[in-house]
Amino acid sequence: MKRAAVALAHPNIALSKYWGKRAGGGNVPAVPSLSVTLAGLATTTSVTFDDALEVDALSLNGAPASEGALARATELLDRVREAAGLRARAHVVSMNDFPTASGLASSASGFAALALAAARAAGLDLPADRVADLARRSSASAARSVFGGFVELDGEVARQVAPPGKIPLEVLVCVTTEAPKAVSSRDGMAVTAEKSPYYPGWLETAPRLHGELRAALLAGDLESTCALAERSALAMHASAFAAGVVYVSGATLDALATVRSLRSEGVVAYATMDAGPHLKCLVHARDAARASERLARTPGVLRVIRAVAGEGARILDGKAGARVLDGEAGAGAAGGAVEPRR
Ligand code: PMV
Repeated sequence: MKRAAVALAHPNIALSKYWGKRAGGGNVPAVPSLSVTLAGLATTTSVTFDDALEVDALSLNGAPASEGALARATELLDRVREAAGLRARAHVVSMNDFPTASGLASSASGFAALALAAARAAGLDLPADRVADLARRSSASAARSVFGGFVELDGEVARQVAPPGKIPLEVLVCVTTEAPKAVSSRDGMAVTAEKSPYYPGWLETAPRLHGELRAALLAGDLESTCALAERSALAMHASAFAAGVVYVSGATLDALATVRSLRSEGVVAYATMDAGPHLKCLVHARDAARASERLARTPGVLRVIRAVAGEGARILDGKAGARVLDGEAGAGAAGGAVEPRR
């Protein structure tokens, strides 16, 4: 017997960052975070539980996945099988419609889509917070991609705090390399927690910045929200830096200089960076075209992907879902978007 479902999820960018895990296991972040889910860029994942399969199988962007990626998918599938009382192995097909080395965390949209599709295929009709919990155990930031708009992850709980239209924000992803990241976020945060003299300072600062950012967002204050996001990113990277965990490159710093020069000209533009060298510019939508053009001309910036806030993860029913299951829907590259995709 076969049971199948297809889900779609978008990547997200943290405005207030999480970095570091709580002791005691369970993949619980040490500090709260708040992100924006990005429209236009998506991971689509189909899960088929099939009694005829002997092992789980995972295809990522059209090729068989590495053993490590398959093991992480199996961990999540095991949790779903246990909850549903199911023994069947699964065939998983996952496609990103954005380049994998785009600086957008495909693990966030990937695990959100996998959690939702696997739960549905197993016959579990879980509320969003339970789907988020499943996703969080695989990749903490994935819990936030289950929801749309502006999303908080506090301890084990993810929730939407504001809808996509709350502030007129655009995110400009400045791609600075095609290479995969050298140090995973999982390893980078473990080394930071162990070795950085500034990690205690980060643990103290991050919740305060998060609270201020949340309040600014709820007040509809775009500029303060973005300014606090930049401070959160710089504090996170400073704590990592002091442990020898360096994600920025020369191109990141050149892009940061461009963002600051735009700001000195009166443009509402701020920067954030994650576990890689790609800078993301947080900009008022009215200034996005100008900022995007300037960033694209910055040496070391290969291309700029424009994105706005979008919806949470969802099941694809009917024809769209059937097309994916039949293997007809391919992945297109989203690089070099001129207008933000919605
Ligand atoms: O979700 P993880 O464990 O891959 O870590 C994500 C870490 C950052 O992207 C740097 C920050 C965040 O809150 O998303």
